[in-house]
Amino acid sequence: MRVFVTGATGFIGTELVKELIEAGHQVRGLTRSDSGAAQLKSAGAEVHRGDLEDLESLRSGATGMDAVVNLAFNHDFSKFAKNGADERQAIEALGSVLQPGKLLVVTSGTGLVSGGPGHVRMESDPASSSAAIPRQPEDATQAAAARGVHVAIVRLPQVHDTRKQGLVPMLTQMARDKGVSAYVGDGAQRWAAAPLKDVAHLYRLAVERTGPGVTVYHAVQEEGVALRDIAATLGKGLKVPVVSIPPEKAAEHFEWFAHFAALDMPASSDWTRKTLGWEPTGPGLIEDLEHMTY
Ligand SMILES: NC(=O)c1ccc[n+]([C@@H]2O[C@H](COP(=O)([O-])OP(=O)(O)OC[C@H]3O[C@@H](n4cnc5c(N)ncnc54)[C@H](OP(=O)(O)O)[C@@H]3O)[C@@H](O)[C@H]2O)c1
Repeated sequence: MRVFVTGATGFIGTELVKELIEAGHQVRGLTRSDSGAAQLKSAGAEVHRGDLEDLESLRSGATGMDAVVNLAFNHDFSKFAKNGADERQAIEALGSVLQPGKLLVVTSGTGLVSGGPGHVRMESDPASSSAAIPRQPEDATQAAAARGVHVAIVRLPQVHDTRKQGLVPMLTQMARDKGVSAYVGDGAQRWAAAPLKDVAHLYRLAVERTGPGVTVYHAVQEEGVALRDIAATLGKGLKVPVVSIPPEKAAEHFEWFAHFAALDMPASSDWTRKTLGWEPTGPGLIEDLEHMTY
């Protein structure tokens, strides 16, 4: 298949480009930079220069493709609302040039699913959006789906290897800066997780196997890892004390990150595993954190 990947030079995109090319697909990757272009070329991908804010560059990249995978996102949290709006426009632009029967794969998050604390997020649960996390990638696929473009939504948990682990690096940095590795309350809040290579494999299966309509996948290996266990592992690695912060003091300690630090967002992938025949085999989140260089 001919596949256009945005975010092709990022943490997940780099692994996905490799996975797709090894499986015999032709990949065109989006990048803004010379270094990104060099990386894509050496991986065997076609380079497409462009920017999420340049919708024409997205439309020209996606034109004529069998599938488009959107992984690009600007993670500057000081401009979160703008970046969420840019993502929405980018997905709409990418979908607008795909022919009916072709495939649009959009990245979402298990943290973008409806459900309060204690609720294990399912693929059948609707997406949510909040002022704290102003992203609506799933909603942005509606126009393409209505035209008969096949849509796959991949909801990601904390995607990890020994270099990066979703939102965990924010906790690591905070523990380094403040000299304590902290969690909120009893630390029973759970974050779902999956290893990087298994996530890339899931995207490839989604590219190859998604049929008509809108299909939601959860790229989840571990349903929920307790923040208490994450904080304990970081404390050990950084050789700093592990402490509980009472909920009423969370904003003071975690600052802008307090919303995330208090989130309980476990997620199931039973349906995804059965549907795609996906069986993740990589290390768990705690194992990767234990092998990280501190
Ligand atoms: N990693 C996780 O654990 C995790 C968890 C949940 C959801 N997600 C989501 O999964 C997606 C990929 O995550 P990631 O961790 O691989 O991200 P990443 O490592 O930060 O990579 C971001 C990619 O987006 C591209 N990009 C950034 N701003 C851009 C812009 N204005 N125009 C065009 N491209 C732009 C970058 O490309 P260039 O710099 O080469 O242009 C880069 O390839 C994101 O939507 C992310 O929010 C990730």
